[in-house]
Formats: sequence, structure tokens, C-alpha cells
Amino acid sequence: MEKPQEHSMLCPNLEPNNSISNLLNKLTKSSNTSPYAKQVYWDANRYNLQKSNLFNSLSDEKQLEVVLRLNKWSLELIYFIEKFGLNYGAKMTLNAESEEEKSLYSLFSADEVNHRILIEPFLIDGKPKDITIHPLLDALAVCLREGSKETMTFTIQVILEGFGLMHYTHLKDSCANKDLAQAFHLILKDEVNHHGMGVALTKKSMLNKKQTSEVTEMTSLFVRSLIDAGWVLKSISETCGGLTKDQADQFKKETLWAESQTFKINKMSQLIRKTGSNEVFETLTKNGVFSF
Ligand SMILES: [Fe+2]
Ligand SMILES: [Fe+2]
Repeated sequence: MEKPQEHSMLCPNLEPNNSISNLLNKLTKSSNTSPYAKQVYWDANRYNLQKSNLFNSLSDEKQLEVVLRLNKWSLELIYFIEKFGLNYGAKMTLNAESEEEKSLYSLFSADEVNHRILIEPFLIDGKPKDITIHPLLDALAVCLREGSKETMTFTIQVILEGFGLMHYTHLKDSCANKDLAQAFHLILKDEVNHHGMGVALTKKSMLNKKQTSEVTEMTSLFVRSLIDAGWVLKSISETCGGLTKDQADQFKKETLWAESQTFKINKMSQLIRKTGSNEVFETLTKNGVFSF
């Protein structure tokens, strides 16, 4: 994959308390909420860390460091994805072929702005600038730059937003902070519609040969990025100053890494099949995209 030249997700912010930001706060009814104190939103259980001998052997302080880093990355990834959603909606508005579709995509973009605003106060170290935290972000930038309307509806709205529904539901249900759980509840209400709209649009249009090949390529990027992320291992490895291969293998076994990969792959396979495009699914399987 060619590295994206620029990320719409890294669009700069204005200085606080200027007239444009104040107007945005007024229109979105957000009040420049002050950030929450650094706290654990998802504990060690969410990542199966309590099953690991290595994790249990760490001091309380180090354990907290591993967990907080994972919490931080989770929130930052969501923050970037919501920023991506605004740009995605804008491109789709321009490419839509009916007044109704254009209107739906404008509302879609507005939803994504509200989602970002809902998540922002919970960010652990303020607004992130590091786009390299997850390989999905590069894949999204490539898709936004190169994807046709049909490809993006299929990959972003059906597969990724479908996957996002499951992921956000897990985050909501396992969240220790009721305000953040409520933010996820509100976001999920919109995301159900975004995904439903994608399913309706893909059912309406048949992919031609070129589109099928583009969808296969983009879907392959997304599936691989979700399989390859490896955050839990990365976080404990950073805290421990690196792990040996044996330590890493043992850690993956104890924290049920393979089971979690299988679960993710099954969900993505199910979503790809939901679009009715067996050709995409079969090509991905043949190319070994689902293996880990
Ligand atoms: Fe969203
Ligand atoms: Fe969305």
C-alpha cells in the first residue's frame, strides 16, 4: 500500500475561544467541556490481561501504565475515525446522484461531527497528532483518496461501520465511566443508521468488474489492518522495554490472542457476505487475507 500523502484526520484546530469555535460550540450545543481527569475507562479484564502471568508480575504502577495506554489508544482511534467520517460524508455528498442521497450524506457528516465532540472530553492526553497508532488510519486515508462511491459504500459503511457497531457496543458495555458509556450509546444510535444506509445502497447497485476488484483490494487493506494491530502485546511490550519471542508467544496464548483474532475474522467475513458479493469473499479467502 502506498503511504497516504496527507490525512484529512490531521486537519489543524483553531486556537481556543475564537469566533468560529464559539459558533460551532453553540450550533452543536457543546460547551467546550473541560477534559475528564486521567482515569481508567476499561480495566485489565477487557483485554484479558488478568490471565497473563507476565502482567500479574508487574507492579501496580506498571499495570496501570499498560491499561491506560490501551485506553488512550482506543479513544484516539475513535477520535480519528469520527474525523474521517466527516470527510467521508463530504466526498459522498459530492458524488451522490439524488437529492435524497446528498441530504442523507450531509446529515451523516453532521452526525460524525457530533460523535467527535462527544468523545473529545475523554481523550487521555488531549487531541492526538500521531496517526501511526493504528494501521487502519492509513487504510482509511487511501480509501478516501482513491475509492469510488460504490467501493466506499461497500467497504466503509457496510463492512467497517458494521464492525464498528460491534466494537462500540463492547466498549459501551465494558466501560467503567457512565458518561462515556452514555456517549457511546448516543453514537451507536446514529451508527446503526449509517450502516443501514450502506446496506440499502449496496443492495441497490451491482458492482462491475473494476469495482469488484477495487472493493477486494480495499477490503483486504481493512481486514489486514484490523488483524495486524496487536495493541495489547504492543502496550505491555512498551512498558517492559521489549519482550523475547517466548515471552510474546506465552503472553498471546494467555490473553487468548488467537481466539480474539478468530472472532474478529468471523465478524468481518459475516459482514462481507452480507453484501451478497461472494466473489469478494472468495478472492480474499484465496489470497490468505483472513489468515494470521
Ligand atoms: Fe461516527
Ligand atoms: Fe458513522
